[in-house]
Amino acid sequence: MKQIAILTGAGMSAESGISTFRDSNGLWEQYDVMKVASIEGWYDNPDLVQQFYNDRRAQLDTVEPNEGHTIIAGLERDFRVTVVTQNVDNLHERAGSSNVIHLHGELTKACNESKTQIYDIGTRPIRSGEKADDGSPLRPFIVWFGEAVPLITKAAEVVSEADIIIIVGTSMQVYPAAGLLHYARPGVPVYLVDPAEVNVSSNVEVIREKASKGLAIVRDKLTNTI
Ligand code: OAD
Repeated sequence: MKQIAILTGAGMSAESGISTFRDSNGLWEQYDVMKVASIEGWYDNPDLVQQFYNDRRAQLDTVEPNEGHTIIAGLERDFRVTVVTQNVDNLHERAGSSNVIHLHGELTKACNESKTQIYDIGTRPIRSGEKADDGSPLRPFIVWFGEAVPLITKAAEVVSEADIIIIVGTSMQVYPAAGLLHYARPGVPVYLVDPAEVNVSSNVEVIREKASKGLAIVRDKLTNTI
């Protein structure tokens, strides 16, 4: 089976009711990104950071995967699919995708300060002052600005081995994720689904639609060529 690498961002979950970051009314208009999503912000005001992620985690109980997530999961019938997502929600897994790399971490996990102990916490809040087993503060298992992105090496390998690449709902502004396309083999077809214009250097087929409609178009193109 051909291998597909699917790179997803916040726009993937927009139709599920989760706000994107950089669209108008996006999360970074409502919150100061460096206060709630950076390692410096965590040291300055851990309670504010916990509240931000506790709210995001609680929201998971109120949202469902959308048709776009379902289409991606369905591609596993005909292709070997790896999803490389910048999203910290669990909607790809809940739609049935079995191979998901979360570059920026996962809301349903917590960890100790050194990220060496990882705990499944579901959608429960992390309490102020809660400790990990090693005595360090229990924190969201999220990659904040100023932190390393350990899974980028694996993601680059997935992109370099892909026969087809699909990009959905990311403004491609945050590195290293935004650089992943450089690992694609020359000539590999790349589809980009986004209702807005996104700057990408490579030669891509742009489908200016929301995730659900755009992915239906991509799926039809791909399944016609199997
Ligand atoms: P952005 O908010 O930067 O970009 C969202 C993209 O989704 C934009 O290109 C929108 O046009 C597009 N979009 C909006 N609605 C859509 C829909 N219904 N269907 C498809 N696309 C839609 O989000 P990301 O690129 O994911 O990191 O942001 C990357 C990282 O920046 C995030 O992981 C987060 C953020 O700061 C951290 O917090 C560490």
